[in-house]
Amino acid sequence: MSEEQNLDLQLEHQKYIQDLGGWCRTHTCSELTIANDGATVCLMGWVQFRRDHGGLIFVDLRDRNGLTQVVFSPDIAPKAHENAHILRSEYVIAIKGQVRPRPEGMLNRNLVTGEIEVVVHEWKLLNTSKTPPFAIEDRCDAGENLRLSWRYLDLRRPKMQYNLKLRHQVMQGIRRFLDDRGFLEVETPFLTKSTPEGARDFLVPSRLNPGQFYALPQSPQLFKQLLMVSGFDRYFQIVRCFRDEDLRADRQPEFTQVDLEMSFADEMQVMTLAEDLMASVFQAVFQRKIPTPFQRMTWKEAMERFGVDKPDTRFGMELKDITALVKNSGFKLFAQAPLVKAMKVDGGESFTRKEIDAFTEFVKAYGAQGLAWIKIKKEEWQSPIAKFLSEEERAGIKQQLDLKEGDIVFFQAAEPSVVNAALGNLRVHIAKEKGIIPENTFNFLWVTDFPLFEYSEEEKRYVSCHHPFTSPKEGDLEKMESDPANTFARAYDMVLNGNEVGGGSVRIHSAEVQRKMFRALGFSDESAEEQFGFFIRALEHGAPPHAGLAFGLDRLVMLLSSSTSIREVIAFPKTQKATCLMTESPSFVASKQLRELNLRLREAPPSETPES
Ligand code: AMO
Repeated sequence: MSEEQNLDLQLEHQKYIQDLGGWCRTHTCSELTIANDGATVCLMGWVQFRRDHGGLIFVDLRDRNGLTQVVFSPDIAPKAHENAHILRSEYVIAIKGQVRPRPEGMLNRNLVTGEIEVVVHEWKLLNTSKTPPFAIEDRCDAGENLRLSWRYLDLRRPKMQYNLKLRHQVMQGIRRFLDDRGFLEVETPFLTKSTPEGARDFLVPSRLNPGQFYALPQSPQLFKQLLMVSGFDRYFQIVRCFRDEDLRADRQPEFTQVDLEMSFADEMQVMTLAEDLMASVFQAVFQRKIPTPFQRMTWKEAMERFGVDKPDTRFGMELKDITALVKNSGFKLFAQAPLVKAMKVDGGESFTRKEIDAFTEFVKAYGAQGLAWIKIKKEEWQSPIAKFLSEEERAGIKQQLDLKEGDIVFFQAAEPSVVNAALGNLRVHIAKEKGIIPENTFNFLWVTDFPLFEYSEEEKRYVSCHHPFTSPKEGDLEKMESDPANTFARAYDMVLNGNEVGGGSVRIHSAEVQRKMFRALGFSDESAEEQFGFFIRALEHGAPPHAGLAFGLDRLVMLLSSSTSIREVIAFPKTQKATCLMTESPSFVASKQLRELNLRLREAPPSETPES
């Protein structure tokens, strides 16, 4: 049927639309089983599919819970059957009828309701539907942009309904757990002053204070610390955070944190609580036992062994430092590099030239110039670089990497940051591509002892690795200003299968140390006072020692639902370009609105922008 005919039909059908008229649902579409045989029921939902078969009309009726087969029979209810010919996919209907067993041979063991069907006595058309732009089913092959433009239809698909239900269960599990442990849920402002969390702020102009702006919070960091000063002792909030940063599969401009803070607690207590919280969520949602305590690894060890600060520990392929082995090598690239690391892939000798070229392109995104490799063949080491390596170097590499016939080794020789990023990310890339990672495994890991600062080439100064409210490690206080590169933080990240799902720290609770921190970050005393005076003053008024953490709820649910992007677990997410394709935001606004806010655009908006 053509689009036009379809539309005509749909318009024609609209005259049959009725209200509920007192009808009341007795069951959902996934509830009825053979135990309900003979019951008179009323169901409501969407037409998934209509089939006409030997005089009977079958409809799979769908709601959030599942499907029930309903049958329109000319013998049992002739009028209802005749009218059922108008039914199309996604029409909304209510039916009243009787449950009966499906005939032998028609059973569907994959459905909860697969042993029964409901024979319709009467039904109502509650609404029609235009033909959806894609099929409402999990196998739908529509591109993501189309799905996002029609998100409310996309959300009807079972997988999306599952994801959002899982998200709900995780949130409720977290709330129950934290409530039981004495945490109070306190809301904090969205219109606030910017906190230096590392990303750009979203700004909101103030109409009542022309020229001035609020910032949307990158996290409630300062407020939760202030709540500790207020004596709330244990705080949590499931809260939206806003960061104007480059987006990726695991980042959104607005995302949700499970944010918590504890007074009179140190890293041990926060980490133990966070482990118990995860274990209780897994138990409540999946009835699955997660072993605690989680493995712990210092940042330094993570970087050495895995090249990244969020290692995926579900598989091996660890990086080996061979700098010492090749420091006198005839291969100048190796001999002169500050760091040389190697990574072995078992059986990787079968990688094709094309695959290796693609890996080389992959590492270039991390600043690598190229990718050296050696295939371990029976008779020889096949490689563009093997001829430069001495017997002794070969023997050393063979021993250190435990090489055997059929392996491939990849090398990086450069600055540590490039070597680690290139090989560390290649490790995960190859493991994903080659199906090396075991499925249905959840490996939690704490990464601890992060550096307190990192040098920002862009800003030409040290910036906080975590945030400026993080306490330095004991003994590192004095080094904050004298030797910032070698100062470590009382910070910890929770990593799940190679994803950073949470991060936190013990906080500075002394005004003096906080002032010192701002100085180390290059703030003058005046600018620290101007931006954070209110906060430093709070620390001067009886701030208890405190520590906390925030989980990325979207990332957590993404991993729990085996989704590949956090967009799959957010009801109405933004695209990579931070747009909403459904509501078409952001959008230009009327010039009157701009005038009220005392704003003028530097470039004129398109002419169709409304004047008022
Ligand atoms: P942090 O910046 O590490 O810490 O954020 C905590 C967790 O939030 C998640 N996350 C994101 N998720 C989706 N999209 C984003 N753009 C995004 N950015 C971060 C991550 C991360 O681990 N105030 C501190 C917490 C604290 O110290 O208590 C904070 O915000 O999973």
